[in-house]
Amino acid sequence: MAEALRLTETPAWRALQGHYEKIKDVHLRQLFADDPKRGERLTAEGAGLYLDYSKNRITDETIRLLIQLAAERGVAQRRDAMFAGEKINSTEKRAVLHVALRAPQGTQIKVDGVDVVPEVHAVLQKMAAFSDRVLTGQWNGHTGKRIKNVINVGIGGSYLGPEMAYAALRTFSDPAMNFRFVANIDGAAFVEATADLDPAETLFILSSKTFTTLETMTNAATARKWIVSALKSDAAVAKHFVAVSTNAAEVAKFGIDTANMFGFWDWVGGRYSMDSAIGLSTMIAIGPKNFEKMLAGFRAMDEHFRIAPPERNLPMLMGLLSIWYNNFFGAQTVGIMPYANRLRRFPAYLQQLQMESNGKHVDLEGRPVTYQTGPIIWGEPGTDGQHSFYQLIHQGTKLIPCDLIGFCQPLSEFAGHHDLLMSNVFAQAEALAFGKAAAELKEEGSPDFQIPFRVCEGNRPTNVILAESLTPKALGTLVALYEHSVFTQGAVWNIDSFDQWGVELGKILARRIIPELESRTETELNHDSSTNALIRRYRNSRGRKVLENS
Ligand code: F6P
Repeated sequence: MAEALRLTETPAWRALQGHYEKIKDVHLRQLFADDPKRGERLTAEGAGLYLDYSKNRITDETIRLLIQLAAERGVAQRRDAMFAGEKINSTEKRAVLHVALRAPQGTQIKVDGVDVVPEVHAVLQKMAAFSDRVLTGQWNGHTGKRIKNVINVGIGGSYLGPEMAYAALRTFSDPAMNFRFVANIDGAAFVEATADLDPAETLFILSSKTFTTLETMTNAATARKWIVSALKSDAAVAKHFVAVSTNAAEVAKFGIDTANMFGFWDWVGGRYSMDSAIGLSTMIAIGPKNFEKMLAGFRAMDEHFRIAPPERNLPMLMGLLSIWYNNFFGAQTVGIMPYANRLRRFPAYLQQLQMESNGKHVDLEGRPVTYQTGPIIWGEPGTDGQHSFYQLIHQGTKLIPCDLIGFCQPLSEFAGHHDLLMSNVFAQAEALAFGKAAAELKEEGSPDFQIPFRVCEGNRPTNVILAESLTPKALGTLVALYEHSVFTQGAVWNIDSFDQWGVELGKILARRIIPELESRTETELNHDSSTNALIRRYRNSRGRKVLENS
């Protein structure tokens, strides 16, 4: 069989290259002047989200060619394979089924011939029953005190989603309860999370897919000591720890009854797991009913992604636009700017989702890619960022496409702030697109010497995403939007968006260095000269010796 064409050899890619040369200097001012209806036309709606993509440096031809690219790369077929439970994570030979986590009861999704949907719902029911017991005081601490504090111990995908979701949906949680998150192995993280808490009122959720992650296991051991020494009994562990994991054997070894373990499956990637049992802290915070609403939001976007035609398919359009800037304009980064303080951890969440998924250097056949893959994702909530780094986006020398995310309805008691907040979403998108020309400045009376400094070229692209309000449902929809946009990009690039081999090397090397730092006897070092010198300096500072010749 003839080898499939490499990405850069496909007709659509070549056509996009030619097209890029033609439109790379066309200004958004021109595009809007040529088509007065552009701002209404280049929009799409799905699952309650409105996407205005008109302020992108595109024409109808760009969209046509990007959609052709998706077709030539088999994005829709790959999407259907994912929804059907095929093992599209080929380097780990695993299905990729975060969509099964929110599939309605009665749907059939099979992995190795077994329908996984009933298992998903069994875990959701177990989570709901447990959450209700905690919330109604049927599950109390060892001394009989009500649980008032819930601490999720986990890192990466076992942390970023729960922390982001709690910050986003805090209005839906009982203000008398505290939810905290311990991820970093730096002991300061544990101290900060627990300093003002009573161990007798504190429940730890140990969240780790593998239950072997160094950070999580170290923090879990510290938590165990904190509980046992305060409550003076090993038996307290049973009442103050539950686990979320795929590794029942390790959970049991820790001393947690596996009846209090909430399972998930190898076909859920860590960064795609916030709506699995990894969301247990979220469910306790917002309650099972609101958690179900969040799942409904995910589900609505899944359906939209599955059936909407490409030209109206939000995740498909956003994924393809990201490719347009990354691979043709050479943009290195994407800014994520949620205009909602409660979404302040959303950029960090999307960093893992996108960069761990699409930061890949070989294609599915193991060949080095000859094109750029995943962009660098970063961002802060608006309006904070405007008074910090937006200057570089407006007048710097780098092209930074940005997603501005806003909500029409405020959730805050101080609703008067909302119009001011949202005016900034619209103003920033407008300013980035259209800028300020020298002639306008002159007309407004700017002194001549200042004009070059005040000119804003504009032509900075944005997507504006509007939702009604920051509810559990809207959050689910937004997360699924980005999950599927990441999928679209990975499918075009022909990479495995679901493995993460790159993070392994550092973990292995740290395990080798740990005893070299800890050893109280004179230690020989056999690293490169830089690593040796750093370790020597550290050991000296801690009063530990290194053999002279190393
Ligand atoms: O950082 C790598 C990683 O494997 C992530 O993909 C994952 O989310 C995280 O570590 C935590 O892993 P675990 O849930 O197994 O503790």
